[in-house]
Amino acid sequence: MNRKKILKVSIVMGSQSDFRTMKLAKKILLKLKVPCEVKIISAHRTPKRMYEYALKAEKNNIGVIIAGAGGSAHLPGMIAALTQIPVLGVPIESKKLKGLDSLLSISQMPKGIPVGTLAVGEDGAINAALLAASIIANNNSLIKSKLKNWRASQTKSVKKSPK
Ligand code: RP5
Repeated sequence: MNRKKILKVSIVMGSQSDFRTMKLAKKILLKLKVPCEVKIISAHRTPKRMYEYALKAEKNNIGVIIAGAGGSAHLPGMIAALTQIPVLGVPIESKKLKGLDSLLSISQMPKGIPVGTLAVGEDGAINAALLAASIIANNNSLIKSKLKNWRASQTKSVKKSPK
């Protein structure tokens, strides 16, 4: 029997400090029952770890990579250069430039190696998870229906008039 592989979403980040933001991506994926893993991988502090991770990503049944990084934020682009798995970049709000540096670094990938860039900070982490879930949902009807319900309850939560 030709069993369909269950693809997971891999959340990676350059530092423990990024988890303050990236934990929101994990929370959304868990809520949507999307299989996921979370790792700290730094392009400049642990380049070997990054290289090995990216080369093995396909074999490890990863369907989408969410990479959060701050400052010069080269992690998403470096991983995207090493694998064809879609990479979604989350610019982390940096101390000095409030994440503008991270945003420009991740979004301004030169042509040839794309990285899908989300908003800076928590909104970006949440939307990266929702987008990753949508990608996985293309081949997974359970996740598709979870996403549908999530949106329906979001719609329901918006009041018609302010209090
Ligand atoms: C980047 O440097 C990380 O992605 C993080 O956003 C930033 C600061 O890292 P720490 O000094 O907090 O470890 O590599």
